[in-house]
Amino acid sequence: MKTIDDLDVAGRRVLVRADLNVPLDGTTITDDGRIRASLPTLRALAERGARVVVTAHLGRPKGEPNPAYSLAPVAARLGELLGRPVEFATDTVGESARATVASLGDGDVALLENVRFNAAETSKDDAARGAFADELASVADLYVGDGFGAVHRKHASVYDVAQRLPHAAGRLIAAELDVLRRLTENVDRPYAVVLGGSKVSDKLGVIDNLLDKADRILIGGGMVYTFLAAQGHEVGTSLLEKDQLDTVRAYLRRAEESGVEFVLPVDVVAAVAFAADAEHDVVSADAIPADRMGLDIGPESGKLFAAKLTDARTVFWNGPMGVFEMEPYAGGTRAVAHALQDSDAFTVVGGGDSAAAVRTLGFDENAFGHISTGGGASLEYLEGKTLPGLDALEG
Ligand code: 3PG
Ligand code: MG
Repeated sequence: MKTIDDLDVAGRRVLVRADLNVPLDGTTITDDGRIRASLPTLRALAERGARVVVTAHLGRPKGEPNPAYSLAPVAARLGELLGRPVEFATDTVGESARATVASLGDGDVALLENVRFNAAETSKDDAARGAFADELASVADLYVGDGFGAVHRKHASVYDVAQRLPHAAGRLIAAELDVLRRLTENVDRPYAVVLGGSKVSDKLGVIDNLLDKADRILIGGGMVYTFLAAQGHEVGTSLLEKDQLDTVRAYLRRAEESGVEFVLPVDVVAAVAFAADAEHDVVSADAIPADRMGLDIGPESGKLFAAKLTDARTVFWNGPMGVFEMEPYAGGTRAVAHALQDSDAFTVVGGGDSAAAVRTLGFDENAFGHISTGGGASLEYLEGKTLPGLDALEG
């Protein structure tokens, strides 16, 4: 895979696919981690005299312009962080984009409006995506793939454009790949994986793959109630994916056979409703009252999880342990973040939600070995899948 150092960019129009999909509250960016992660590539290209044209998505608009998903606030923030104005085009391949790109001087940076305002961007029809990729490619001379968080998407700006222009991987993708290799090749052991988040079904592939690779798998978050139910426990009104019970039982059996340790919570914070002010108590994980829902792992589980992480040499964490956005249910996520912070292991926090969680809870990013900008992307990599956005940059 070529890197931007292999490209001669001076005076050329370089289309950079970045992942600037940041959480917004109205037009206020609540976590700018992904914008900051895009800077090394953009700076390097600008310094070398490229005319930098950034394309990115925000949220999931339905293939047509929608002001709620405009990248305009991101352009402003990007300009502040770069310390130079960022021109903003109000469309992706239309008149505004063409005029904006034409106005760029060497070392200037522009951002195109949300690429998902075009239905063809995410189309399953190769021809439709290809036609749109032709248009995108026509505003540039070179392509740099750097939107790590979106490399698992076979989208026009991620996949098809790379086939139409000389291309290379940006600094973020290179850095993320270095980390993922450390999690898959010659792993420093013990290797512990902490998985949370709401849906088991999102994590099945990665659990399947990790059963042959990890030494210990710790489970929390909404997905854990399907594990507890699979062990025959009452889970009350907690999230439960009934159709996954057999699969989960098979994983628990396989783990036992292969000597992988599954660590489940011993207590949970159980509430009468999904609300910060709902009545809630810590209950034993094998005795959740029928009218309660588990919204976090309990304090004993926090200690247990921390203990299971102390001697690890490599830790990968994806997904919060509870509804950390509500203070009564943030303890489990905080406990895991603390354990990672105190650990000497190579620690990787995978994914938008977990990364936002550690920052929202006030942890210093530097306390972790690496905070990935891609949740789905890193999980799919660890599943052993081919990622279209990486595949396209090969050769
Ligand atoms: C993300 O937020 O996970 C990435 O930006 C990809 O976005 P998507 O899940 O909407 O494709
Ligand atoms: Mg996501």
